[in-house]
Amino acid sequence: MSYIELKNIEKSFENKEVLKDVSLSIEKGEFVTFLGSSGCGKTTLLRCLVGLENVDSGSIYLDGQDITHVSAQMRGVSMIFQQYCLFPTMNLFDNVSFGLRMKKIPRKEIEERVNDVMTIVDMQDHLDKYPYQLSGGEQQRAALARGLIMNPKVLLLDEPFSAIDAKLRKELQLYLKKIHRKLNMTSVFVTHDQEEAMRMSDTIHLFHDGVLEQTGKPNDIYLHPNSVYAAGFIGSYNLIPEELLSKTNKKTCRRYAIRPEVIEMSKKVYVQSDEYEYLEGIITNQIAQGSVARTVITINSNIEISADSISQENFSYQIGEYVYLRVPKKDIVKLSR
Ligand SMILES: Nc1ncnc2c1ncn2[C@@H]1O[C@H](COP(=O)(O)OP(=O)(O)OP(=O)(O)O)[C@@H](O)[C@H]1O
Ligand SMILES: [Mg+2]
Repeated sequence: MSYIELKNIEKSFENKEVLKDVSLSIEKGEFVTFLGSSGCGKTTLLRCLVGLENVDSGSIYLDGQDITHVSAQMRGVSMIFQQYCLFPTMNLFDNVSFGLRMKKIPRKEIEERVNDVMTIVDMQDHLDKYPYQLSGGEQQRAALARGLIMNPKVLLLDEPFSAIDAKLRKELQLYLKKIHRKLNMTSVFVTHDQEEAMRMSDTIHLFHDGVLEQTGKPNDIYLHPNSVYAAGFIGSYNLIPEELLSKTNKKTCRRYAIRPEVIEMSKKVYVQSDEYEYLEGIITNQIAQGSVARTVITINSNIEISADSISQENFSYQIGEYVYLRVPKKDIVKLSR
C-alpha cells in the first residue's frame, strides 16, 4: 500500500458533483502536484485530505491507517491555504506558534521550535513584525513556517505562490523543493500553472472537471498526453485534424497533437521521406518569447499551427511568406479522446 491512498472519492456541494470517483496514490517523500483549471476541484480534494471537508463516499488512507473519519487535528496533515491566512492582529511569533499554543505546548519548547522553523525559512529577524509589515514573499514564507512548525507527516500547499511575481515565484519554488528534500516531507502542491507543475513535481495528477484525467511524471505527461484536454492543458500542443495528415488510422483517432518545437520550417519544398509528415502554409504571426520565437502558420486559410524555434533562426522569415513544414512522424501524438 502507498503512503497516501485516495480511493473512489466522491464529493458534491448542493447537488453539484465536484469530485467524481477520484482514486490516486502518493508515495512517502514524493512531491506531488494536483494540476487543473479553476473550479476543477483541487482545493476541495486538499480539504478532504486535511480533514476540513467530509467525503460523500470513498476512503482516505495515510501510512496504512484509514483516516476517512479522523478529525483534522489528529491526521498529522498541515495545509497552507490559497490565501495566506496570517492573522493580521498577531505578530509573526504569535502567527507561527499559533498551532503549538493551541496544543498547550510549554513556552520554552514553542520558542525553540519557532526559532528553528524561522531559521529554515530565513525569517528569524522578522518575529516582531505584523503581516502588513511584510512583503508578499515574506508573508508566504511565514505561512510556510506556520505549516512546517507542526512537523506534519504531509504538507498540503494550495496555490501558495499565485500572488507573487514571476522572479520571486521561481526562487520560492526552488526554495520549497529544498525544504521538501531537507525535511524529507511528503508534499502535495496545487496549481493551475502547468509550467510550475512541470518544474516542481515528481508526479502530476491532472484534473478536469472533478475527474482525474491523467497521472504521470512531468515529462511523460508532456510527451504523451492521453486526451485532447491534456494536450491542450500541458504545453501548447497544436491539435491537428486527421485530414491534414497523410496515412492515419481513422478508427482510433479523432485528433493528433504536435508540439510546436518539433515542427521544422523552410522556404523550400522538402525532399520527401517516409519519416515525416509535410504541411505548408502562410506565416500569419510572429511572437517573441525570449530565447524562443513562435511563428504562426495558417494552413488551408483556416487552420493555425504554431512552430517554435530559437529566436535568431527566425529573423529570416516575414509575415505573409509561404513556408513548408515537416514533422517527424514519431513526434505526432495520437489522441483517442
Ligand atoms: N463550500 C462550498 N459550497 C458550495 N460549492 C463549493 C464549495 N466549495 C467549493 N465549491 C464549488 O466546487 C467547485 C470546485 O471548487 P474548488 O475550490 O475545489 O476548485 P479549485 O480547483 O480549487 O479552483 P481554483 O483553481 O479556482 O482555486 C467550484 O465549482 C466551487 O464553486
Ligand atoms: Mg482552489
